[in-house]
Amino acid sequence: MCGIVGYIGENEAAPILLRALKRLEYRGYDSAGLVVVDNDLACYKDKGMIDALEQNLPKISGKIGLGHTRWATHGKPSKENAHPFLDCKGKIGIIHNGIIENHLELRSQLIKEGHKFTSETDTEALVHLIEKHYNGNLEKAVKESLKQVHGSYAIAVIHKDENDNIVAARCESPLVIGIGSKENFIASDIAALLDYTNKVAYVMDNEVVKLTRNGFEISTVQGEPVSRNVETISWSMEDAEKGGYEHYMLKEIFEQPMAIHNSLLGRIPDLTINEFMNGKFTTIRIIACGTSYHAGLIGKYIFENFSKVPVVVEMGSEYRYSEPIHENTLVVLITQSGETADTLAAAREAKRRGNMTIAITNVVGSSITREVDYTFYTRAGPEIGVAATKTFITQLVALYILGITFGLIKRTLEYDKIREHTSTLRKLPRYAQSVLDEAEHIKKCALTMVDATDVFYIGRNINYPTALEGALKFKEISYIHAEGYPAGELKHGPLALLTPQTPVVAIAPKDHTYDKLLGNISEVSARGSPVIAIGYQDDTELSKLADNVIYVPEVPPLFSPVPISVVVQLLAYYVARERKCSIDKPRHLAKSVTVE
Ligand code: F6R
Repeated sequence: MCGIVGYIGENEAAPILLRALKRLEYRGYDSAGLVVVDNDLACYKDKGMIDALEQNLPKISGKIGLGHTRWATHGKPSKENAHPFLDCKGKIGIIHNGIIENHLELRSQLIKEGHKFTSETDTEALVHLIEKHYNGNLEKAVKESLKQVHGSYAIAVIHKDENDNIVAARCESPLVIGIGSKENFIASDIAALLDYTNKVAYVMDNEVVKLTRNGFEISTVQGEPVSRNVETISWSMEDAEKGGYEHYMLKEIFEQPMAIHNSLLGRIPDLTINEFMNGKFTTIRIIACGTSYHAGLIGKYIFENFSKVPVVVEMGSEYRYSEPIHENTLVVLITQSGETADTLAAAREAKRRGNMTIAITNVVGSSITREVDYTFYTRAGPEIGVAATKTFITQLVALYILGITFGLIKRTLEYDKIREHTSTLRKLPRYAQSVLDEAEHIKKCALTMVDATDVFYIGRNINYPTALEGALKFKEISYIHAEGYPAGELKHGPLALLTPQTPVVAIAPKDHTYDKLLGNISEVSARGSPVIAIGYQDDTELSKLADNVIYVPEVPPLFSPVPISVVVQLLAYYVARERKCSIDKPRHLAKSVTVE
C-alpha cells in the first residue's frame, strides 16, 4: 500500500531516496517523507506528492536514510500522519508498509509508560516500542519489538547513534534488498532499485535484515541466521512497476489473496461500529454504482441472511430521484474511489433524509468519508487498472464483516454461526489463491470465447450479481457485448438470442438452486450455445452438461461469490488480452467518475 526505500552508502542519501520514491508513486501518494542521519536525524515530510516534498526540502547531508510514500490506511492523509516517524527523543526513525493489527493496545500501554504520540497511525506505536527496547543495539531492539507485534509489515529503521546500519524486517508485506557497489538499498519494490542496481535478494516473512554499506545479514526474528542468494533481474522499469505482470489488472487480480487478508486484519467483527449505531434501523439501503453496485447486490443476500433486516439496493444515479420510505433506514454507500459523483450525491441526500450512513471505500480521506457517519476502509491498496478487481473483492469482505456485525447488533446470529462465518472469512485468501493457481486452465476456457458476438453470464440467488459483475468485467475490457442474467429468466426472452456464437458462462455452485441451474445449462446447450460452467471441486455432474468446467474450492454458498469472482475476472482478462485490447485503460472509461 505504501512504498518504502532505504539507502546506505558513500553518496548523499536524500537525492537517491527522492528518485527512488518517485519510482514508487504508483503504490500511492497521499503524503511522503524522508529521514537522513546527519549529526541528528533530519526528518522532512508533508501531505502531497514527492515533487512537493522535493521542492520544499532544505539541503540535507547524510549517507544513510529512509524514504516513504504513503497510501493511508490508519489516519487521514496529513503531515502528522506521514512517515517517517521518530521516537520521543528523535533518535530512531522508522518507515512502514502494512498494518499493525494490535496498535491500539500497544499505543495505550506505551502512553501509560510516558511515550508521546503525535499521529493517528498504527506505525507510530512501533517506533516507541523500539525506543522502549533499545539498549545500544538497534537490531536487537527491533527483534524484541516485533515479538509483540501482530499484523503485516515491511519496516526499515535507523538510529542516530548507529550510522553504519539500517535494520529492516518483513511479515506479509514485500521487502527486497538491492545490492550495489559500496552501497546497499532496501525497498518495498524492485522499481525503487532499478536506477541503481539489478542485483537483489528477497526478504521472507519473519526475517530481519541488517544492512550495511558492504553487505547484509539476514536472521529470523527469533535470531536464527539465514542465508539468501543474490539474484540478477532483467526487468524494465515498466515491468517492475507492474510487479513483472503484463498489465496492472492482472497484477491486481493476483494481489487479491493479500488484499483480502489485509482487509480482514483485526476486525472480525468490526465492533467500533457499535459506537455510533443504536441498533434501531429496520431497513438497510445499499447505494452504489457499477461494480460497487454489484457488490451491493451481493451484500443484500449477506445482510438479509446475517441480520434478518430487509435490504434494498439502488444505483447512486437513481436514488436521488426516488422517494423511498426512509424512517429507521441505515444507508450503506459503496465506492472504491470515494469520489463517484452519483454516490456522493446519494450520500448527501440520505443525510438530508435523516438516515444513518456508512461508507465502504478504499481511499482514505476521499470525499465520501466527509459525507457519512462512519467509514469502513477496504484496504485493497491502490488500484491502477480501470476495471475494479481487488477493490471489488475487498468490498465483499467488508460486507461480510459488516453483516456479521449487524447480526451481532440485531442478535440474529448464534455464537456458533459467527464462529463458522469467521472461520470461512479467514480462509478466503487461500480460496482466492487456489483459483489463481488454476489460471492456465481458466485461460484455455477463456480463449474459446475470443470470437463470440455476445456472451451471457447466468447465475441464481447470490451468484446472479456475480453473473452481472462477470458480464460487466467482460464487456468493459474485451469490447464484446456481454449480459448478466438470472438463470431462470433466460426463458422469458433472451433464449431467442442464443446461437453457437453466443457462449454462456453458467455459475453453478452446489447451493439450493443447483438443480435448477443444471436445468438452465441443458436449456442453453440445446440451443447450440457453448457452455463454460463454474462449479465446486468434485462436482461430477457439470462436466456431463457443459463444454468446459472451471472448478473452485467448495465454500459455504454465501461466500461463493469470492472465488467465483476471481474466475470471471480472469476470463475477461484473457479474452481482452488475446484481442489486444487496452486492458488497463479501456476506451471511454475513467477510474473515478466525477460527473453525474
Ligand atoms: C468497473 C468499474 C466501475 C466502477 C464505478 C463506480 O470495473 O470499476 O463500474 O465500479 O464507476 O466506481 P466507485 O466504486 O469508485 O464508486
